[in-house]
Amino acid sequence: MKTLSATAQAHPNIAFIKYWGNRDSVLRLPSNGSISMNLDGLTTRTTVSFQPSLPFDELTINGHEVIGKGLDRVSSILDLVRRMAGIGMKAEVISESNFPSGAGIASSASAFAALALAATQAAGLGLSEAELSRLARRGSGSASRSVPGGFVEWHAGNTDEESFAESIASPDHWDLADCVAILSAGHKQTGSTEGHALAPTSPLQAARVADAPRRLDLCRQAILKRDFESLASIVELDSDMMHAVMMTSQPALFYWQPATLTVMQAVREWRSQGLPVFYTIDAGPNVHVLCPQAALGETEKNLRGLPGVTDVLVAGVGGPARLLS
Ligand code: DP6
Repeated sequence: MKTLSATAQAHPNIAFIKYWGNRDSVLRLPSNGSISMNLDGLTTRTTVSFQPSLPFDELTINGHEVIGKGLDRVSSILDLVRRMAGIGMKAEVISESNFPSGAGIASSASAFAALALAATQAAGLGLSEAELSRLARRGSGSASRSVPGGFVEWHAGNTDEESFAESIASPDHWDLADCVAILSAGHKQTGSTEGHALAPTSPLQAARVADAPRRLDLCRQAILKRDFESLASIVELDSDMMHAVMMTSQPALFYWQPATLTVMQAVREWRSQGLPVFYTIDAGPNVHVLCPQAALGETEKNLRGLPGVTDVLVAGVGGPARLLS
């Protein structure tokens, strides 16, 4: 048996309509569908080599060997691939991301999308985009959305087969940019996986989930029509609704810092003065501020002038996960 190897890269994504809570946490079937934009320039690159001589799977992330839960999560995806391909070899996985891990951009989306593509290619499987998205979803829900390119919708589905993401519009459909306002990090936050499990303990989650099809429709239409004002209002509402659920779960998850609110209020103020900007916030204190490329210079400058903002990362609209030769 010889070594089977492949390398793939994928971008992280920012959710416009958020995934929060699972109906099935083993299969990662989400409580509601979601919509996101891939982030160009930010990239995870992963090489998977199935090797006959390896006694165990090995994982290296940004030059550091990972064992325990992090390795188990990767091995469970490799197990699915081994089963599909009918191979038994263990694998060496080497993954590098070009964005700082402390930047509050979850690397699990780009990491599991790149892993799914590299591992299936190495194992000789030619999966469709939907099948790859389903596989990436098993590692991290948001990774399902980093498989297709551009603006992407993840259909919640009722089964493993039905729960996958696909493009709504290509990267060149709309010249948007994401300015991530990095705030001085406080204590370590509760990770998304633990957070999803708490969602049903909030009395607001049922209402949030019941209203999701409406928000998904509004968001999809706003993207297709390039209607910035409509996109701004639905994305901010959706982010606020998810944080309301987080803050009212038991135990409560409170991700905002004082500077988070400073940025949110400034963004709304700038928009009322005519600058096209809106915010959205994931499971951390940093604020993603979206704007057309034409407003990028002013938005970035404004953000850097706010108290509590330590850095601003900028990304355009990213393409799909792809193989590297
Ligand atoms: C707030 O995909 O990171 O970013 O499936 O447990 O890996 P796991 O969770 P993850 O959750 C993402 C949560 C979010 C919203 C979103 O990206 O939709």
